[in-house]
Amino acid sequence: MKTRIGIDALGVAVPRRYVELADLASARGVAPEKYLRGLGVREMAVAEPGEDTVALAALAARRALAASGIDPRDLGMLVVGTETGVDHAKPVASYVHGLLELPRAMRVYDTQHACYGGTAGLMAAVEWIASGAAGDRAALVVCSDVARYGVGTPGEPTQGAGAVAMVVATNPALVELDVGLSGAASTHVHDFWRPLGAREAQVDGHYSVQCYLDALATAYRGWKAIAVERDVVRPGGVVSERLARICYHVPFCKMARKAHQHVRRCDLEDASAPWDVAQEEARADASFAAQVEPSLGACTRVGNIYTGSLYLGLAGLLHADARDLGGKRIGLFSYGSGCTSEFFSGVVAARAAERIARAAIDDVLAARERISVAEYERIMALPATSPLGAAPTDGYRFVGVSGHQRQYARPPA
Ligand code: HMG
Repeated sequence: MKTRIGIDALGVAVPRRYVELADLASARGVAPEKYLRGLGVREMAVAEPGEDTVALAALAARRALAASGIDPRDLGMLVVGTETGVDHAKPVASYVHGLLELPRAMRVYDTQHACYGGTAGLMAAVEWIASGAAGDRAALVVCSDVARYGVGTPGEPTQGAGAVAMVVATNPALVELDVGLSGAASTHVHDFWRPLGAREAQVDGHYSVQCYLDALATAYRGWKAIAVERDVVRPGGVVSERLARICYHVPFCKMARKAHQHVRRCDLEDASAPWDVAQEEARADASFAAQVEPSLGACTRVGNIYTGSLYLGLAGLLHADARDLGGKRIGLFSYGSGCTSEFFSGVVAARAAERIARAAIDDVLAARERISVAEYERIMALPATSPLGAAPTDGYRFVGVSGHQRQYARPPA
């Protein structure tokens, strides 16, 4: 019998504070509609120095383990996908391993390729289980980042921070992934990068959008060719409509709309069918509303969380729609600047609604505090090693460096 492998549980962690993008627009002398409708973002998470990539990853991981109910002794692998690590040698995964007191007998490492890093970890975990090497063990995959472009830059309204952790196991309760069914696309481009030592990313913003769309076209077509060959989808016409939903990497929510239009355009070109531009625009809008928009609820309130953005979209989708999606196939597109990308798919589990409720996404978002633009700017100007003012009651915190070693406080047990 076929082994079913995929995501068994999710945990989400975001910073305690956020800024309203309408407030940021006013402060920058920009029409709020540019951010709210032009980019499709409403709120942006603001991480203090204490809420670094490790602290966010550890909290998300703790929540994912609690949601799955797995005994940590049954884990054999911990992978953290991140592009905002805290050390050139010691991986974020190593800190998370220690903070959560996970077993010694497991693989622990980070994976990096911009926003694709988490997907690299997820694929490694899935294929490790599929190969049989895992035996009965499961994997913990965490995507964690703090996205900074800098105050006053065009990228400023597309910042964010957060982590999504996933327990990857057999007989998953959330999504069974189609193992081996994916399309990849990579090109050496300078669309977005962060030189060593810099806290803020460099980006060629409009070019990065084009690089994303070019990669998506190749990756989607790669997925489609295998999906058709394996009879997973019927060929011809707008093949992407045969996926119940599609989650895209979400650097800002408007990007998901552009991505979806592009996928449909690929389908129409592949089908060599003539199309009426006005009619297709209307169809693409309707299809976006039905197939993509349900995944954007959490993304529009947190911003770009780099490696975790696709999986925050997945969490938001399951939170909104899992009850209707049981047994249905969804598509996922992961993009990492530089660039590499992958389009893959999976089937939502019948018990996904009950399982995603344990992630308590509404509570996670509601627990945050809205701050002013002045307070956000004060936080952005703090050195990365600023010591924490108050002891944490609700999560892990970076509390300073002692003897060249980063120190973390834990929440009460
Ligand atoms: P910009 O140049 O300031 O914005 O920066 P714009 O002038 O292109 O306007 C944005 C949209 O707002 C446009 O819509 C305007 O028409 C609209 P579009 O034409 O694109 O559909 N607009 C308005 N709408 C309503 N009312 C108004 C109004 N005014 C304008 N009054 C940019 C935009 C995205 C370039 C910038 O924010 C940026 O550089 N962001 C960072 C880069 C990024 O997110 N790239 C995405 C693809 S690469 C990626 O996803 C990888 C990444 O996650 C990193 C990783 O992999 O690690 C970034």
